[in-house]
Amino acid sequence: MAETGADIAKAVELLTHDELVAIPTETVYGLAGNALSRVAVTKIFSVKNRPQFDPLIVHVPNLEKANDYVTEIPEQAKKLAAKFWPGPLTLLLKKKSIIPDLVTAGLDTVGIRCPDHTLTRQLLQALPFPLAAPSANPFGYVSPTKPEHVNEQLGAKIQYILDGGTCPIGIESTIVGFEDNVPVVYRMGGLSLEAIEETIGTVKLMTHSTSNPKAPGQLKSHYAPGKKVLLGSIEELLSKHPEAGVLSFSKDYGVKNQIILSPSGKPEEAAQHLFESLRAFDKMNVSVILTELVPDQGLGRAINDRLRRAAAV
Ligand code: TXA
Ligand code: MG
Repeated sequence: MAETGADIAKAVELLTHDELVAIPTETVYGLAGNALSRVAVTKIFSVKNRPQFDPLIVHVPNLEKANDYVTEIPEQAKKLAAKFWPGPLTLLLKKKSIIPDLVTAGLDTVGIRCPDHTLTRQLLQALPFPLAAPSANPFGYVSPTKPEHVNEQLGAKIQYILDGGTCPIGIESTIVGFEDNVPVVYRMGGLSLEAIEETIGTVKLMTHSTSNPKAPGQLKSHYAPGKKVLLGSIEELLSKHPEAGVLSFSKDYGVKNQIILSPSGKPEEAAQHLFESLRAFDKMNVSVILTELVPDQGLGRAINDRLRRAAAV
């Protein structure tokens, strides 16, 4: 098991020596290493069992620091960063050569994010380098939202987990890039589409590409728990699978193995509980999880995206 604590000096020490540390963010826990070190970045891919064609997000303490790693920041990106950083927004920007190609899987853009979590912001401010950090789960599995989740899956492979409690948003950052200065959303996440469009106007959505995905987070079957997930009308599905586990948005279906994401029907609350709930079914005596889409607005879009991927085979 990895040691768990809130010792920033210890995290700094490990990271400075090219070791990895799991870090809390407002979205999910990350598996962090020095983004400028090929040694550290190689460890990230190997601990996660992640294919090297899948690029990593680089975490910075503020917008000013981002300038050290990218060649230019489009006006609309500046607007978004000014309004939503620190926060659940990753911007794909043209990279400087100081960012190793390994981090970006050879792409000429790098995902830059300024996370909103006190401990991790203190850590980033204490370090002379940025942190590459994918979600701290084995490749393809559901992201961790508590230190225990990280320890269960990666505890034997890393030394330290910076304990920042439960991630308040619970779903990964929204990824926005630019094609000929046109803003494109590649992954729905903790920042809603409505909030983005209020700030920079209409954006293009490219969250469902299936072949040669620009962001492999777009791969259809991703974010999957250990059990089979069926998505549809829970009521109908129950007639065929009466022994199944049920993951509902707000309704009580009166079955034994049931988790209600938000009894009061709030998308934010449902997002916070989503990954933890999918994990919980792995420990229950059920072979199938039945679930349903939530209203497709606000964080509901990101929840539905993850549910569709969890159900894809
Ligand atoms: O909330 C988050 O974003 C969390 C926390 C830890 O910051 N991180 C996270 O990282 O979710 P990861 O690696 O699990 O997902 C990042 C996604 C991947 O699907 C990757 O393919 C995509 O971002 N990505 C990263 N850099 C990219 C780039 N330059 N171009 C296209 N996609 C990129
Ligand atoms: Mg991930």
